[in-house]
Amino acid sequence: MARTIFTDHRSYIVSARMAALIAVLTSGGDAPGMNAAIRAVVKVAASRRVEVVGVERGYDGLIDGDFRQLTRILDDRRDLAPIAEVEGLGGLGGTLLGSTRCPRFFHRDSREAACAQLTGQGLAGLVVIGGNGSMAGAHALASECSIPVVGIPASIDNDIGLTREALGVDTALNTIVEACDRISDTARSHHRAFIVEVMGRQSGYLAMSSAIATAADAVLLPEQSKTREEVIDSVTEAIRNSFATARDKHRVLVIKAEGVNVPTHELVEEVEKRLSDLAGVEVRSTVLGHLVRGGNASFRDRLLAGRFGLAAVDAVLAGTTDMMVGWTSPGSDRGTGTSDPYIRLFPLAEVLEETAALLDGTSAVTLDRMRRMEAIQGILAL
Ligand code: F6P
Repeated sequence: MARTIFTDHRSYIVSARMAALIAVLTSGGDAPGMNAAIRAVVKVAASRRVEVVGVERGYDGLIDGDFRQLTRILDDRRDLAPIAEVEGLGGLGGTLLGSTRCPRFFHRDSREAACAQLTGQGLAGLVVIGGNGSMAGAHALASECSIPVVGIPASIDNDIGLTREALGVDTALNTIVEACDRISDTARSHHRAFIVEVMGRQSGYLAMSSAIATAADAVLLPEQSKTREEVIDSVTEAIRNSFATARDKHRVLVIKAEGVNVPTHELVEEVEKRLSDLAGVEVRSTVLGHLVRGGNASFRDRLLAGRFGLAAVDAVLAGTTDMMVGWTSPGSDRGTGTSDPYIRLFPLAEVLEETAALLDGTSAVTLDRMRRMEAIQGILAL
């Protein structure tokens, strides 16, 4: 029997000879590498003669049944290939399918509508590419719906549990490092201090890693839980020490995560007031914001997207559900192995538990990061 998928503005008929059909969606804040993951999901599925539909606008599109075909049937009607738009994705940033944060998905009736869309079309599985909110949505859906659901972690914040890195992190860090190099050129020329704010509402990972890579003089992370006064004092001290006459520094770079509780422009004002006795010291700020979320995916994000895509498609086709693929070390015994020694499957419930611990600072990973940052603070300041 032929399956038909109808949406408000598209419809098409899927060949009866094709074995199965899976769906893929992207959700939450976009991240470089999402498109590479869509491409990987489509290519791997097509190679297994499984058709793929993309869901537009994340969970919103799933509730509304907004699907589009991502594979096409070749002339002999036996083999499949990606549609031209998927072929042409290359390493493009953003997401071909669009993405939303979907408050409706918190409500059970919306998830029931989403499940009905999946079962009604005879879908064999769903791959969800997104951040921690998207993984929470995937877990809720998998718990209530008979269709296998597998997640692929994608968030520049690197705040998803049980994966060394999520898609987008590497590209975002490369962008930050390049921006800081440029800012350092002008800072050195004018003997200035710069405070650079990077994304990370709850997670300081981008700030922490980029501070090491750019040899920043100080770093401010939400996980440090400093008071407003402590934040202002630490930046004042870092600039005062760095520009002390005995030193030969021409640039001071402070990297601040978005989630630190002093707005960057206020921080600059307060620090300048406290440094008014130091002649000729100017403090400037740059908020990198969404600039860091766009851009072509790096080699590492593209490679990771390919590896995640392969493991995720094979998992849903094997009937695995309520799991996320994660990047781990070979030999790790947590989770379930895949054909790739670096990629394992973890129950979404455990992923969400570890994600909460990462964000509230109780995770061993966060504690270790904070300990190591504390230990190198003096080296950064040199
Ligand atoms: O993708 C995560 C994130 O980049 C956070 O670091 C940031 O606070 C948030 O997204 C911004 O999201 P929005 O684009 O919805 O403002």
